[in-house]
Amino acid sequence: MDKLRVRQSLGLKGEIRISGAKNAALPIICAGLLTSERLTLTNVPALRDIKTLSDLLCGMGAKVNFANSTMEIDASDINNYTAPYELVKTMRASILVLGPLLARFGEANVSLPGGCAIGARPVDQHIKGLEQMGAQINIEHGFIKATAGRLKGARIVMDMVTVTGTENLLMAAVLAKGTTVLENCAREPEVTDLAECLIKMGAQIEGIGTDTLVIHGVDKLHAANHAVVADRIEAGTYAVAAAMTCGDLTLTNARPDTMGAIIDKLSLAGAKVDLGNDFMRVCMTGRPKAVDIITSPYPAFPTDMQAQFMALNTLADGVSTLTETIFENRYMHVPELCRMGADISTDSNIAIIRGVETLTGATVMATDLRASASLVIAGLVASGITTIERVYHLDRGYEQIEQKLGRVGADITRLTD
Ligand code: EPZ
Repeated sequence: MDKLRVRQSLGLKGEIRISGAKNAALPIICAGLLTSERLTLTNVPALRDIKTLSDLLCGMGAKVNFANSTMEIDASDINNYTAPYELVKTMRASILVLGPLLARFGEANVSLPGGCAIGARPVDQHIKGLEQMGAQINIEHGFIKATAGRLKGARIVMDMVTVTGTENLLMAAVLAKGTTVLENCAREPEVTDLAECLIKMGAQIEGIGTDTLVIHGVDKLHAANHAVVADRIEAGTYAVAAAMTCGDLTLTNARPDTMGAIIDKLSLAGAKVDLGNDFMRVCMTGRPKAVDIITSPYPAFPTDMQAQFMALNTLADGVSTLTETIFENRYMHVPELCRMGADISTDSNIAIIRGVETLTGATVMATDLRASASLVIAGLVASGITTIERVYHLDRGYEQIEQKLGRVGADITRLTD
């Protein structure tokens, strides 16, 4: 397994181009199953999860071409409606083929994703909503076995805000007979980006960006071209790296308008943040101030930035509290940061971080995607060398991270077994 060796690299300076958002590209690629015509996507990030999903669609009979951030999906000859456990267990977002397969073909056999490092990750809301739209769903031998005639529009109130739950039901509704009202929807920019792509494909959707989506089903969707929205979490991660290393980074091809809560917390920590339509410049001098964080659904502070801000708070002048309200086990990075000299204690979903003057390099283990990112940015400020093991977690969501950081002064090397 690959490792990353990170040497202390203070004062990162220069430009980083932000890639397309993994969490927008994944549902939008699945939307390609909704039509027999070609869906062409640009600004698609070259990530492990994107490859996994592409392989899944090809296994169903789709043709997928991907080069230079452009992906063409041809789902005119789908002959297999199964998402196998071997693929789904490596990427939970595979559940997003469920809605499109049912909507277009009336059949889907999707392995239950199971849990992951950060939590149990149930999909009961996905199933409940599809059943309300007329699907017959049985859970057998770890598989979701679903069949349906043409799905019918329904009024669905989700019990909690779920990003992929909203996305699955939205994709199911666009081809359903009649109107579907989805209430308590996730409002994440990635959900909005999916809706905007579906509109280009001929879907009829009202309320985009709000917590209530009204979808008027159509008989079929058509070819479209769509550019995937910029990755706000990748941008936030590099913004925190600039703040931690007292650097000066300009993040281009970004969407600061989707990053309000992140930018507010960076400013409270003492960073100087200048914004443009498609860029943000983050400068920091001196020690960060301690900033309290509570993760919540968009537009509040995103759970996917929790680990990165915890790393920032480990060096802050003061004590901060961090409350994780979305996932039940998203503090796997805490013991690893403590190995680097951080002073963090946790009690249930609350972490208390007492800022220290310095961190020291250590060998640490990545446990999930965003925890890995927090260890990389901690390694940039820690004295000496930090070796991060199991970086396959990182490769799932950060395109060319060592090249992007290397170009702005980071001493970061991939060690391949
Ligand atoms: C999406 O996961 C993202 N993944 C996650 O990003 C992100 O952390 C999460 O949304 C929250 O923003 C993708 O978009 C591919 P949820 P998702 O359904 O949709 C509970 C990353 O690092 N819930 O919004 O799986 C669930 O247990 C990843 O890029 C149910 O109980 O998250 C959680 O507590 C990590 N039943 C809460 O809702 C359901 O049917 C929110 O989960 C669905 C969810």
